[in-house]
Amino acid sequence: FKLTSVDEFEAATARLLETGAKVGADSWQLRVKNQSPHCKFGETGVCCRICAMGPCRITPKAPRGICGCDVHGIVGRNYLKFTAGGAATHSDHGREICHTLYLSAEDGNYKVKDPEKLKRIAKEWGVETEGKDIYDLAHEMAELALLEYGKPFGTQRWLKRAPQTTQDIWDREGIAPRAIDREVSTSLHMTHMGCSSKPEALIRQSLRAGLADGWGGSMCGTEFSDVLFGTPKPIDTEANLGVMNAENVNIIVHGHDPSLSEMICEYADDPEMIAYAKSFGAKGITVSGVCCTSNEVAMRRGIPMAGNFLQQENVVLTGACEAIVVDVQCIFPALGPLSKCFHTKFITTSPIAQMPDSEFIEFHAENAGENAKAIVKLACENFVNRNKDLVYIPDMKQKATVGYSVEAIVKVLDGVTNSQVDETGTTKPLIECITSGVIRGAVAMVGCNNPKIRPDHAHIELMKKLIANDIVVIASGCAAQAAAKAGLMDKQSKDLCGAGLKRVCELADIPPVLHMGSCVDISRMMILAATLAKDSGLKISQLPVVGCAPEWMSEKAVSIGNYVVATGIDTFLGVDPYVSGSSEVAELLTNGVREWVEAAYTVEKDIDKLVDSMIDRIEEKRAAIGI
Ligand code: SF4
Ligand code: FE2
Repeated sequence: FKLTSVDEFEAATARLLETGAKVGADSWQLRVKNQSPHCKFGETGVCCRICAMGPCRITPKAPRGICGCDVHGIVGRNYLKFTAGGAATHSDHGREICHTLYLSAEDGNYKVKDPEKLKRIAKEWGVETEGKDIYDLAHEMAELALLEYGKPFGTQRWLKRAPQTTQDIWDREGIAPRAIDREVSTSLHMTHMGCSSKPEALIRQSLRAGLADGWGGSMCGTEFSDVLFGTPKPIDTEANLGVMNAENVNIIVHGHDPSLSEMICEYADDPEMIAYAKSFGAKGITVSGVCCTSNEVAMRRGIPMAGNFLQQENVVLTGACEAIVVDVQCIFPALGPLSKCFHTKFITTSPIAQMPDSEFIEFHAENAGENAKAIVKLACENFVNRNKDLVYIPDMKQKATVGYSVEAIVKVLDGVTNSQVDETGTTKPLIECITSGVIRGAVAMVGCNNPKIRPDHAHIELMKKLIANDIVVIASGCAAQAAAKAGLMDKQSKDLCGAGLKRVCELADIPPVLHMGSCVDISRMMILAATLAKDSGLKISQLPVVGCAPEWMSEKAVSIGNYVVATGIDTFLGVDPYVSGSSEVAELLTNGVREWVEAAYTVEKDIDKLVDSMIDRIEEKRAAIGI
């Protein structure tokens, strides 16, 4: 067993870019050059264009905008707007899932695959389940969940899942999120010209909008996706571009919403469709994924992961991609013109994400089956249009075991038998491992890729050092895919762990880096932290657990960071969220918020320093609780 190195990833990319050069393709690598150096005003967050008297940019000679706003107000407003964008996006994804649940039917396109989970949530929400038809219950729960987006009074239902100590903090600080849409609206209201310019108020609302995402919209997305498509269990798959098959019709699913990809996978498996692919000279159909849509179907179906965010152009550059089918979020508009350099069909499916040079096949619950079938057919028919001279799929893939939902983690922990813990179905075996020092702590590695950081390098190097130091890693999003591509989700990578973590991996039969899903599934990590706190009697902020997004890039990532911090978990970033222009905002985020929520951000671009500071923080937390 050998890890695949980032050098090898880059050699494969270089080879694909040669193909790109032959056909006149553009690439992010070229566009980064054109965009460098970045605008300093934008990069430090000191440019304001929220009213038409501007744009104003703050310099030593011009310390205030025309309205008189100072740099702290401008940076703070920009930060809150950025957060609101992320919270809106995740939450709207969650809302789509609730609508899909509302349309689920015994004989429909979408069914309830995990009725037990639905009943469990119904009980939590005080909804009667006795004697109710499962679809009646699904529709009732979907409607209740949809009301969480706009309810006039009260706070989010999911908050009750947090330990009481955490809920008390949220109440005390006035950051318990109300209706999900209201927190997004309030944020946009606050950042309108002539409203808030006080950093404390802006950052407080950033935390609340983040919580509306993580303990609101994202949690709806995760939990009801599980109800519809099944709660993930450990499953074997493969990762990296080598999962594409030159002899097959290759369909790539990309984006975030599993409603589309689930249906595509369903039809790609249909014998009738496979026969159709064969009629065009292919040996079969391979569906593989990019970004979080990929995580969703990998976790539930073992569909292989072709790559993460900055590999999305690579799948087209293989020359062997018949169709790249996208739903929402993190899709490069570049895929339009790029697909035109090849035979690839670039198929957009959501009114939310429409792009030039794509074929738009609108997808919704009522026509999902029909349209998925049409897309699979289109891909099959496109096989004959391949230019065989351009086909090159890097021979590079790793095995990965994925699918570690909280439910699955609790189950594997039952395997870590210990004389002191005879209770099953809890996180107590993990707490016991942490208390005894066999495992020092846990790091949640999340987030995207960003060309500002050597792609995947930070993710992989950090994870290697963490597991070598007996720190278990839970991962989601593109961070998880980086791990899978490198081989860190192959159970054999246990040999890279310290002795303690290695033993735990053997007992529980798990890899040292656990795939917890997509970016909305960071809500799973919140539930895990809440469960650990409840099972140990500690506050979340006392657990030797930190969060890390070393290569993040999107608004969603900032929203996530805010709810992770607001939940009491220190969060380490490798990219600055455009706040360095304001000493006050930067101070609040990296220190001041600790007084409110018992956690804060650390921003550190040096990867070695970043990992060392996480290990130090974990050891400090251990010392503080005397373990
Ligand atoms: Fe300039 Fe103030 Fe308008 Fe922003 S809100 S563009 S700082 S005048
Ligand atoms: Fe994602």
